Amino acid sequence: MKIPSRVTVVEVGPRDGLQNETAGISTADKVAFVDRLSAAGCPVIEVSAFVSPKWVPQMADAADVFAGITRRPGARYTALVPNLAGLERAHAAGVAEVAIFAASSESFSKKNINQTISESLETYRAVCDRARTLDLRVRAYLSTAFGCPFEGEVEPDRVADVAEALIAMGAFEVAISDTIGIAHPGQIPQVVGAVAARVPLDRIALHFHDTRGTALSNVLAALDLGIATFDSSAGGLGGCPYASGAAGNLATEDLLYMLHGLGIATGIDLDAIIEASAALAPHVGHEPASRYFRAARASTPPAARRSSN
Ligand code: HMG
Ligand code: MG
Repeated sequence: MKIPSRVTVVEVGPRDGLQNETAGISTADKVAFVDRLSAAGCPVIEVSAFVSPKWVPQMADAADVFAGITRRPGARYTALVPNLAGLERAHAAGVAEVAIFAASSESFSKKNINQTISESLETYRAVCDRARTLDLRVRAYLSTAFGCPFEGEVEPDRVADVAEALIAMGAFEVAISDTIGIAHPGQIPQVVGAVAARVPLDRIALHFHDTRGTALSNVLAALDLGIATFDSSAGGLGGCPYASGAAGNLATEDLLYMLHGLGIATGIDLDAIIEASAALAPHVGHEPASRYFRAARASTPPAARRSSN
């Protein structure tokens, strides 16, 4: 198959990244981060999560972040919702697109949302029904699709079952997620192939964490299969509070460098993402993990960087 000429990059740093930072980022700094990502041209930004503040205190200010950001016309601003209460909070905050998040393994589902997979599908069916009446779009995540921190291997058919259920209940897209960064390119055809047998290819996104350094290779393998939507986080921020040891998401800088190098358009300015990561770094208290960020800051004159889009 010919690789896509355009890819949609879903920027999840403000949510997946900051949900796991211990530094206590202020609402104003989160707003400034999202605004910089918007200015960089990100077409989709996951801004926050309307989850229980008892479970994830880092996302307690979701409504305030949404109230503070400047929305660029044409861009999509999304948030996680785990249940109807989260959906109502998101709707009250003026959010037009939400994301539900199920798992492919029972143990992770219980640890993350305190529900079995089938209980969570009931919850999400109600969320999708209500979202339809409110005219909100629903994206879905499917965690532990390449391996579970508690159960190990996960059968691709199991992943396909849950992915199909999420699409059937009304999600417009399912992000097949490597929660703990364990996927390798050899798994991509198996897992994507199993899902694609039940879900149209253009409704499948991939969400990689980069714990073992395989995220970019996985993207390359998935491009070959025709996948054209990938999640990433500026600077490589991230992790998951309920999957200890999970490293950050694939870094947006690293992803853009590879995509632009392949001649794939994204509409995002790589230099501007670096500026967004650099401005946030003092507040999170550590240097971004992105390899491209580090190389660019260390040596490359800005004019020589690839910002093609
Ligand atoms: P629970 O304790 O089983 O449920 O939590 P509950 O209904 O008993 O609620 C507990 C308390 O939270 C109650 O308050 C509720 O009112 C409140 P209390 O009566 O004790 O004062 N509550 C809420 N408050 C605000 N917003 C809400 C909400 N819902 C309940 N929406 C629950 C169940 C699902 C709420 C909880 O487990 C939860 O919030 N989990 C979220 C965990 C999370 O955010 N994990 C990280 C995101 S997933 C991820 O990172 C993976 C992903 O990136 C893909 C990948 O990489 O795999 C997406
Ligand atoms: Mg994640």
